[in-house]
Amino acid sequence: MITRKDSSRSSWMAYFFLLAAWCCLFSPAVMVKHENFKKCDQSGFCKRNRAFADTAAATSSWTSPYALDPSTVKFKDGTLSAVVLKTVGDGEKVKLPLTVTLLESGVARVTLDEEKRQKGDIELRKDSKARKERYNEAGKWALVGGLETSKGAALSEKVEKGYTKVFYGVGGKHEAVIQHSPFGIEFKRDGETHVKFNERGLLNLEHWRAKKEPPPVEEKKEGEEEKQEEETKEPEPQGEDESTWWDESFGGATDSKPRGPEAVALDITFPGYEHVFGIPEHATRLSLKSTRGGDGAYSEPYRLYNADVFEYEMDSPMTLYGAIPFMQAHRKGSTVGVFWLNAAETWVDVIKSKTSANPLSLGTKSHTDTQTHWISESGLLDVFVLLGPTPQAMTKQYGELTGFTAMPQSFAIAYHQCRWNYVTDEDVKDVDRKFDKFKIPYDVIWLDIEYTQEKKYFTWDPLTFVNPTKMGKQLDKTDRKLVVIIDPHIKNTDNYPVVDELKKKELAVKNKDGNIYEGWCWPGSSHWIDCFNPKAIDWWKSLFKYDAFKGTLANTFIWNDMNEPSVFNGPETTMPKDNLHHDNWEHRDVHNVNGMTFHNATYQALLTRDSKGKELRRPFILTRSFYSGSQRSAAMWTGDNLAEWSHLEASIPMLLNQGISGFPFSGADVGGFFGNPSKDLLTRWYQAGIFYPFFRGHAHIDTRRREPYIPGAPYTEIITQALRLRYQLLPAWYTAFHEAHTTGAPIIRPNYYVHPEDEAGFAIDDQLYIGSYGLLAKPITKEGATSVDIYLADDQPYFDYFDYTLYQGAGKTHTVQAPLEKIPLLMQGGNIIPRRDRPRRSSGLMKFDPFTLVVVLGKDGNAEGTLYIDDGETFDYQVGAFIHRKFAFSGARSILTSTNLFADKLTVKAENYLKSMAKVRVEKVIVVNAPKAWKSNKEVNVSEEGAKESARKRGVGLEFFEGGRGKADWAVVRDPKVGVGKGWKIDFN
Ligand code: NOJ
Repeated sequence: MITRKDSSRSSWMAYFFLLAAWCCLFSPAVMVKHENFKKCDQSGFCKRNRAFADTAAATSSWTSPYALDPSTVKFKDGTLSAVVLKTVGDGEKVKLPLTVTLLESGVARVTLDEEKRQKGDIELRKDSKARKERYNEAGKWALVGGLETSKGAALSEKVEKGYTKVFYGVGGKHEAVIQHSPFGIEFKRDGETHVKFNERGLLNLEHWRAKKEPPPVEEKKEGEEEKQEEETKEPEPQGEDESTWWDESFGGATDSKPRGPEAVALDITFPGYEHVFGIPEHATRLSLKSTRGGDGAYSEPYRLYNADVFEYEMDSPMTLYGAIPFMQAHRKGSTVGVFWLNAAETWVDVIKSKTSANPLSLGTKSHTDTQTHWISESGLLDVFVLLGPTPQAMTKQYGELTGFTAMPQSFAIAYHQCRWNYVTDEDVKDVDRKFDKFKIPYDVIWLDIEYTQEKKYFTWDPLTFVNPTKMGKQLDKTDRKLVVIIDPHIKNTDNYPVVDELKKKELAVKNKDGNIYEGWCWPGSSHWIDCFNPKAIDWWKSLFKYDAFKGTLANTFIWNDMNEPSVFNGPETTMPKDNLHHDNWEHRDVHNVNGMTFHNATYQALLTRDSKGKELRRPFILTRSFYSGSQRSAAMWTGDNLAEWSHLEASIPMLLNQGISGFPFSGADVGGFFGNPSKDLLTRWYQAGIFYPFFRGHAHIDTRRREPYIPGAPYTEIITQALRLRYQLLPAWYTAFHEAHTTGAPIIRPNYYVHPEDEAGFAIDDQLYIGSYGLLAKPITKEGATSVDIYLADDQPYFDYFDYTLYQGAGKTHTVQAPLEKIPLLMQGGNIIPRRDRPRRSSGLMKFDPFTLVVVLGKDGNAEGTLYIDDGETFDYQVGAFIHRKFAFSGARSILTSTNLFADKLTVKAENYLKSMAKVRVEKVIVVNAPKAWKSNKEVNVSEEGAKESARKRGVGLEFFEGGRGKADWAVVRDPKVGVGKGWKIDFN
């Protein structure tokens, strides 16, 4: 019974909650908690190395204390080895073994280690059980190929005192010029220097030294107190700041640092390059800004230390969830890059150094060099130098090393519907039905952490997810999928077999003392699986078996979140650096690669989940944390963004950057994770989201529901049109994924990648090309905007995707009207775009639908494009079970042809696949920018290979349409009845 007092208290409570809710709704923009994350000067090794750089810059006589000992140089089978000597204070020389490996691909790899640590000839402090060597296994996780050493590489025959030169690359056009003293390397292509190591003398490998412990404190006698204090005081640091050498505290946690200071740093200069791109993940522009202050520059270096950065801010070099330490420098005529293979906390300073033209010396043009300074806390110095020379060569070379993006299942590139949380299995089924009711296509529905019983992964909440199998089966009826979340923290509780096994089998990460590490995450007290341990991977695989994780079906896939790892009570919301992983590597050494080991393990688990241990379907996994190589097994998203226009805007450069950095299967939460987007913002976000390679709507648990059918007229209709556009273009997207999978090319491409010679467009990062199709989109990201200015780099005609309005003129912006219902999307002349035009409920239901080809004639009257299709599910494409066609329209001959891009002999699986697709045809050809002469043509002649004699040459109707003012004419061939997998010819004469 509620008493008066109770009821007045409860009304007060209600008032209080209302007020709190109101405040939440209308509170000013949420902000990242800066105090939770280090700045460079709070991170000892970063501070030391920046100070080192400042001293070097301020000292006119500065010389780097590193010199190569020429008597140690050896060259064998494409690898040069030598010893670099570091002279330390008292004339002592520290031996640093160097290797320079020249690879067949034209890439060079440089490693520098420390002999003493290599030999284990150091003492660990505080009874630490950690390994003594510098971490040398990052490559084990990141690299999968491209390591074949160059057969043609050779030492220069011309001996130049003080230098060792090696020729390598195709035709020996690359050259590594090693200066002995001070030690440095210049990398040249065709005689010109493109990359310089240690030009500014900032190479710094913090060598091992024993801690000078203060003498033991004797019993104090009266009167001696002051004297004793004097004696036991640590010596004042001289020169270098030693305050964080032996331990370091931040936010109340102390890192024990048993190996003392061990940072590794190097300056890398790109002479003549003004633009550098890459090193995701940061909420910043594509062309990276300078980081050492000044006009518009950042004052902090770009940080790479995977972290759960809650409510992250825009335009910032602050670290985020993933790290890819690969940077590219671009200028007209050349693209080069470096890949800094180190998994420890890393900071990168970028400085643009302008040299003005010298009026007195002829030929000295003004130019900008980009100087960079890479600083990692521990590990080897291990750097790859990629000499391009094009953006395409760059992404290919990097992909050969770290792997190309996995070929996704076709559903994975369609639309995903997520929120934290769909609360019951009935809720899921209801959302599923509503999409159908409103005729909105979608492929995947997601379950966030609340589906579990008390955040115990591999369980279902028995009260809310009563019948997951039935739920999965309903989804399967329309070929839809379910993704469920599984995080790396395992609840530390009783009666949970998963945690019992984890403990019993000793497969969890340990703390510095070698005991199981315990921290705090969603479930409360938790332990973390250590996927560096092969046995942990085997065990992880067993948990996903259909008969172990009951309720999952063949259409269930996995979301790996919080794998930085996120630890709510840990330093910087992650694990202590002195935690220990498999083989006693410290967490400090492996931090950035940790997330990848976890989603890799899940990938393996999904491959073996049926009882025979041989899953036929390609896994789908979404990961939040990533490293170089993550592209081989997962897709990523940009984490917890905000429902604000600025976050919508930032998503485009962030995803473009992912693409050129080798991890193109990327997306951002559509609608924004935190907060409630206005209906306009939600609509514009969907119109942008259809251009994300990974396309998912997601929202925080405290937000209002916002599935596309919720906002009502006219928004729901507009969003539905956007979704239909994505579905219509899925054949183009899938082909773009295949290109990424086989060549490393990004799926969405920035201007510089497509037009590498167009200097004015190098920094453009708010518009994008889809694959190789000349489809150019510029999403609206500004509140209230009703038009956009699209920059065209080339002088091809571009046509509005929907009404064929013509835009032409190179090096200029063109205004495209874009009221709310309009998506700014252009088609570049010269391309053939494959589509599927029949609206369906899911992509799976489109599998055997016919195709439409949009032939967009270029200024020379020609056009071409490709199409790749396979079963969208299995690995059979690896044995040739696919269709890969090239379509080409010749203006001179007025003929459109389809030719095969696959020349190998057909396997049985390939033949079967072709048979299954035999009836799938091209049902329509639209020619945009059609010649006026066709006005009088009423028919085209169609011929198909292998067709019966009677059908070998057929007449099919042609309709011609005049575009009118400012719009292209177009023509349509309706149902030429040619097989999509066949060779054929359509003659327009
Ligand atoms: C953090 C993720 O970034 C977010 O997407 C998810 O909804 C929550 N974790 C809850 O699992």
